[in-house]
Amino acid sequence: MSSEPASARQPSVRIRPLRAGDVEACARLVAGDPLWQRYGLTLRRARRALRQVLAARRRGGAAALAAGDVAVAAVGGVPVGFVWFRREGTFHHSGYVRWLAVAPAARGRGVGTALLRHAEARIFRHGPNVFLTVSAFNRRARAFYRRLGYVRVGALTDYVVPGVTEVLLRKTRGPLQPPRPRRPAGGLAVHRMTGRECTR
Ligand SMILES: CC(C)(COP(=O)(O)OP(=O)(O)OC[C@H]1O[C@@H](n2cnc3c(N)ncnc32)[C@H](O)[C@@H]1OP(=O)(O)O)[C@@H](O)C(=O)NCCC(=O)NCCS
Repeated sequence: MSSEPASARQPSVRIRPLRAGDVEACARLVAGDPLWQRYGLTLRRARRALRQVLAARRRGGAAALAAGDVAVAAVGGVPVGFVWFRREGTFHHSGYVRWLAVAPAARGRGVGTALLRHAEARIFRHGPNVFLTVSAFNRRARAFYRRLGYVRVGALTDYVVPGVTEVLLRKTRGPLQPPRPRRPAGGLAVHRMTGRECTR
């Protein structure tokens, strides 16, 4: 992934893969935010998580796929936001956006939108769904996701911390499987993912 301008609205913002030199700034971004503090995220844990992504990417293969990707939005080389996403992080088949954060001073200028679109573009190359969770109390973020086409598909009460509901959001381009061809009379259809014959 090479560096690319975030959007026409944000020509000075470049989106590029996480580098070792970005870890501290990105970790501070989440660990310093009241949202992640509510979930008990410390600077140490944030640094470790981001370093693990870099290490997995160096190893490549299944480790890199499992760890996912982190894309950074940078102005003059300095990170102002980042997104951490996985291509197969939900239900084993679908994309998952794990963390999306923009520095308070850079919010409301399209950086979050550009980062999310970047993650979506990569996830949609491999499958038709993007999932994420957002805290029910995070009204501004919920409005942000709604505007970008995410629809509430569920709610997970007390999932991460007691007393907080995680709203499960989905953006989709369709089902995992294409429409099935009509089954010949008396024949059996074969389920594409399990390989088993099935009667409907
Ligand atoms: C949510 C977030 C990633 C959006 O990034 P952003 O760069 O501010 O988003 P954009 O500029 O592309 O879009 C702005 C929209 O985001 C929403 N938004 C959410 N939180 C916002 C905030 N703190 N400041 C400004 N806009 C915010 C608003 O709906 C805003 O729309 P508006 O301009 O009509 O008010 C960013 O505000 C952020 O990091 N918030 C704190 C962490 C968080 O909530 N992350 C999501 C966890 S699931």
